[in-house]
Amino acid sequence: MRFIGNYSTGKMGYAIAEALAGEGAEVILVSGPVSVSTSEKGIRVVRAESAGEMYEACTAIFPGCDGAVMTAAVADFTPANPEDRKIKREKENLVLELKPTRDIAAALGAAKKPGQLLAGFALETTDELENARLKLKKKNLDLIVLNSLNDAGAGFGFDTNKVVILDKNNKIQTFELKTKREVAADIVNEIITLLPQQMDSL
Ligand code: CTP
Repeated sequence: MRFIGNYSTGKMGYAIAEALAGEGAEVILVSGPVSVSTSEKGIRVVRAESAGEMYEACTAIFPGCDGAVMTAAVADFTPANPEDRKIKREKENLVLELKPTRDIAAALGAAKKPGQLLAGFALETTDELENARLKLKKKNLDLIVLNSLNDAGAGFGFDTNKVVILDKNNKIQTFELKTKREVAADIVNEIITLLPQQMDSL
C-alpha cells in the first residue's frame, strides 16, 4: 500500500491528550496512523486513516466538546484519483494529480460556538510569528502553538520541542527546549488560563 502523507509520530498530540486527561478532562483523541499509543483512562481513541476521515470525525465530534486542540500534521494535498489496485511500473514516468484536503481547524473555527475553545499549531519556516498570528485569525483560533523548523531538536520525530504560544489577546510566551510531555503541560496550562474568558463569552 503506497500513500502520500506527512511525517509525524503523533507524540505531541498524544502528550496533549494525556495532559488534558491528567487535569480531569474527558478526551476524545482523533488519531491518524501514528507510531504511539496510549492506555490513559479518560481518553477515547477514534481512528482516522486519511485527511478526509479525520475531517468527518472532527466535525461530527466537535459540537459536543468544550474545545479542541488541533495537533495533527494533516496532509495539505491528497491524490485526486486514488487507484484501487497496484500501479505497475511499466510506465515511463508517473504524474500524480493532487487536490487540496479540507482544512479541519478552519472548519471547526467557523463552526465554533461561544464558550468553545479552539487551539491550533503552526509550523513555519519564515516570518514565523507573523504567519502564526495570521493563521490564528484566519482559522478563528483562541491560541496557536508555533513550532519552528529552525530550532535544533524540535518538531517532527524528536522527543523534544521548542514552542511559542500566541493567544487571541496577543499574549506571546516563548518557551525553552523541553520534552513533549513538558510542552504539553505548558499548552494545557495556557488552555486552563483562557477558559474563564471562554465562559464569559457565553
Ligand atoms: N490543519 C487542519 N487541516 C488541514 C491542515 C492543517 O486542521 N488540512 C491544522 C493543523 O492541525 C494545525 C493548523 O491547521 O493546527 C496549521 O497547520 P499548518 O500545517 O501549520 O498550516 P496550513 O494551514 O496547512 O497552512 P500552510 O501549510 O500554508 O502554512
